[in-house]
Amino acid sequence: MAKQFNRILITGAAGSLGTQLRRGLAPLADTLRLADRVEIEDVQPHEEAMVFDLADEAATIEATRDVDAIVHMGGAAVERPWQDVLDSSIRGSYHIYEGARKHGVKRIAYASSVHAIGFHKLTDHIDAQTPTRPDTLYGVSKCFVESLSSLYWDKFGIETVCVRIFSCFPEPADRRHLWSWLSFDDCVRLFSSALTAPSVGHTIVFGMSDNTVKPVDNSLAGHLGFQPQDSAEPFRAAVEARVPVADPMASATRCYGGAYVDFPHPDDEAQ
Ligand SMILES: NC(=O)c1ccc[n+]([C@@H]2O[C@H](COP(=O)([O-])OP(=O)(O)OC[C@H]3O[C@@H](n4cnc5c(N)ncnc54)[C@H](O)[C@@H]3O)[C@@H](O)[C@H]2O)c1
Repeated sequence: MAKQFNRILITGAAGSLGTQLRRGLAPLADTLRLADRVEIEDVQPHEEAMVFDLADEAATIEATRDVDAIVHMGGAAVERPWQDVLDSSIRGSYHIYEGARKHGVKRIAYASSVHAIGFHKLTDHIDAQTPTRPDTLYGVSKCFVESLSSLYWDKFGIETVCVRIFSCFPEPADRRHLWSWLSFDDCVRLFSSALTAPSVGHTIVFGMSDNTVKPVDNSLAGHLGFQPQDSAEPFRAAVEARVPVADPMASATRCYGGAYVDFPHPDDEAQ
């Protein structure tokens, strides 16, 4: 793969998916700038690390200087108390987009989530034009950033691929993952496509592997050229032997968001 970028900024680079993308996107850029609020270990010669909180507007904007593209993975990665969702994901992502605008960054690949559309039912067979239907405050923050993506494309010409990641883990852990799983390697393929597809504007894509059960229509993201190569199918027998069948009428079974649709308000839970 030819190096297409001088420098790519990866936020949330110390996290699970950030670590995979450090590995997988290295062939695309001379330098990966790794950002997180926790220290990043084993910084390699082709990498540079910055430690700051996305809620820090000046530090976040500064981190976008001299970068050609941004892979934005940082922020609350599950349902969290409102203050963390607000500071890390909503304010933090706004700072990323402002940094991109001020420093002329032309392409962002954003880690959105299934939880932006979590209350839709699997039988709805949604596509990228189906309205959002978040299942948590976390999901609301993903919808907010998808709206930033739309605004900053229409008004400022900054392109974004919003990758609605479903379940990206080393292997499928439960029956829901048999349709929702995204392998780490397919995640790398998808973010590579998001960065290198010739023209993306404001694109929404569902991030899942080539699983046998496909409850969404990804055809509106065909221009990305993403072709998943892994499948949850080889794991099916082991998962079905280990995990009991869920109630088919339960909301958590019928909705894309799974258990998140039943989560309480996070601030009530914290009390
Ligand atoms: N793993 C999945 O299946 C999945 C599914 C849907 C969406 N996503 C999204 O992908 C992204 C990465 O997820 P992950 O599974 O690697 O989570 P993770 O928790 O392992 O990584 C998130 C990283 O973001 C950093 N971070 C959090 N708040 C920050 C802040 N205020 N300032 C700076 N850094 C901050 C954390 O320190 C962490 O290293 C998240 O945005 C998550 O919502 C992941």
